[in-house]
Amino acid sequence: MGETRPSSAFQTDNIDPTKTAELVAMLDLYAKNTGVQRLREWAHSGLLAGPGERAVDIGAGTGSETHVLATAVRPGGEAIGVEPNDGLRDVATRRSGAARFVHGDALALPFDDGSADVVWCERVFQYLAEPDQAATEIARILRPGGRVALLDTDWGTAILHPGETAVAEAVTRSPLAAAANPRAGRKLSGQLAAAGLQIDDVGSQAIIHDHATLNWPFVTMLAEVAVREGRVSSSQRDRFLADLRTGAEEQTLHMSVTTFAVLAHQPH
Ligand SMILES: C[S@@+](CC[C@H](N)C(=O)[O-])C[C@H]1O[C@@H](n2cnc3c(N)ncnc32)[C@H](O)[C@@H]1O
Repeated sequence: MGETRPSSAFQTDNIDPTKTAELVAMLDLYAKNTGVQRLREWAHSGLLAGPGERAVDIGAGTGSETHVLATAVRPGGEAIGVEPNDGLRDVATRRSGAARFVHGDALALPFDDGSADVVWCERVFQYLAEPDQAATEIARILRPGGRVALLDTDWGTAILHPGETAVAEAVTRSPLAAAANPRAGRKLSGQLAAAGLQIDDVGSQAIIHDHATLNWPFVTMLAEVAVREGRVSSSQRDRFLADLRTGAEEQTLHMSVTTFAVLAHQPH
């Protein structure tokens, strides 16, 4: 779960230029997870951006997926990443010469109606207080027949094991307070359908961490939040963290959270 966490530093009302390196490190680590790679490959192969098309990546981050789209639309097409965080946009621009990055907001995209062939939007809706408006914007910029891949985490699916079940559930509830729309994943299809798009497929992938990849400071922080919010006592926290450490030693540790991907298109 560690690097997949909903850091409020990704929210537009909370951009801090001193945090750019930390956010980039988080996104780079996330991109290395094999589950993330599997879901992204599945979504790209369903989206099928092709030569000559105009692709838009909303909330592009470091631009890793904008770059994939830029490669797919060659020759003749263009890929544009929309990114409101200046620091992330600079990194994306430096990293991907093939794509162009612009300042913009998912809630008011800087594109004309029907001007995009394909849209990618990954792990942005969880930071939006008005995700329905973002779905409406995606539908607005897609041409008839245009396609979208919308991916997001659902923090209601987080699992931490081993340890006392009730305490684990209380601790995994901690990230729910960190983002504007933490249960984004389960709502994606409904939001795109309500915006008038036709749903083509829905995929999912549990993003899993084990004893080798677990982010201990993150887990400890979740447990602290659970204590602070009165969901577990200090002694329950201590026992739970000890159980997790034993799990790590015995290689029975499991942390995961599910990310969903929806493929849809604008009807003709
Ligand atoms: C967790 S990162 C995901 C980045 C990238 N899509 C990825 O999956 O690696 C969330 C991204 O959403 C962007 N973001 C947050 N609020 C946004 C908004 N209102 N409009 C567009 N992007 C936004 C952040 O700046 C950040 O780049």
